[in-house]
Amino acid sequence: MKILIELLNYLLFPIYKPNFCQLKQSLQHKTIIITGASFGVGEALCYLLADIECQLILVARTADKLQLIKQSLSGKKVKVALFSADLRDAKQLDNFITYLEPYHVDIFINNAGISICRPIMQSLDRMHDFERTIKLNYLAPVKLCLALIPKLQQSKGHIVNVSAINVLLAPTVNWAAYQASKTAFDQWLRCASSEFENQQIVVSTAYLPLVKTRMIAPTKIYKKLPALQPNQAATIISRLLVTKKRQYKPWWAILGQLASVIFNGVWCKLNYYYIKKKQ
Ligand SMILES: NC(=O)c1ccc[n+]([C@@H]2O[C@H](COP(=O)([O-])OP(=O)(O)OC[C@H]3O[C@@H](n4cnc5c(N)ncnc54)[C@H](OP(=O)(O)O)[C@@H]3O)[C@@H](O)[C@H]2O)c1
Repeated sequence: MKILIELLNYLLFPIYKPNFCQLKQSLQHKTIIITGASFGVGEALCYLLADIECQLILVARTADKLQLIKQSLSGKKVKVALFSADLRDAKQLDNFITYLEPYHVDIFINNAGISICRPIMQSLDRMHDFERTIKLNYLAPVKLCLALIPKLQQSKGHIVNVSAINVLLAPTVNWAAYQASKTAFDQWLRCASSEFENQQIVVSTAYLPLVKTRMIAPTKIYKKLPALQPNQAATIISRLLVTKKRQYKPWWAILGQLASVIFNGVWCKLNYYYIKKKQ
């Protein structure tokens, strides 16, 4: 079983190596905001950029962890500024936007995210699940984009959205709160991207598959599935920073997208029987 998973990992997630030479050329002296920098993909990205002479502005709730990352990066070329905030909270989000005022901003990486896997029938008294996912995964990045447009216009900047492959595929049961909120921001950004490009702001989206972070830890079945390591996900994002391509999706995503259309009826039936079996 272990060998099979390793083989699948190898096939599904070919290993890309970061190109530090290109990264240096593209990011030197740039100011980069990374939301959700304290753990997982965001943290891995901070370490990947350690030897680039650029300014990182990191935001997340866990101040101690951000401080630890800053300490680990001291003595490296990268400069690090920290801001601790719960981006779901309107006041804290406004404070972060005010904090950014003196900065020139070249790149905004929207990475902070929360996922919830819960059946609707267990959510009848849990409206807050839908509120917290929509606040963090949709409303906060919309507000940040709006606030950053003048700065990104000035710098001919770049917005990178860390999205999920599920956004492109048929919906899955139990993931309504997460998938709706990730899809909402993806759709917003796709609608707005031509307007951004008209202002010389480039938009890229990384449609990531599973990544082995604390986000997927509570979902038992994911422990057995092939998944990217956080540093692989960070490398994918770093490639978008260099190439400025509109999107990254795994090579096999197109097969999933086709299957989502052709076998939509079968997929709905499978979901139905899965729920029935679980009852
Ligand atoms: N893991 C996956 O399988 C997977 C797959 C596809 C896409 N993604 C996307 O990848 C991105 C990073 O996720 P991850 O896997 O690295 O998860 P993670 O390890 O849980 O990291 C999430 C980051 O978001 C921050 N965050 C969470 N709630 C926040 C809040 N209210 N205010 C400010 N920051 C907050 C967390 O910091 P604090 O807790 O310190 O606030 C943390 O730094 C997310 O957008 C996720 O949707 C993940």
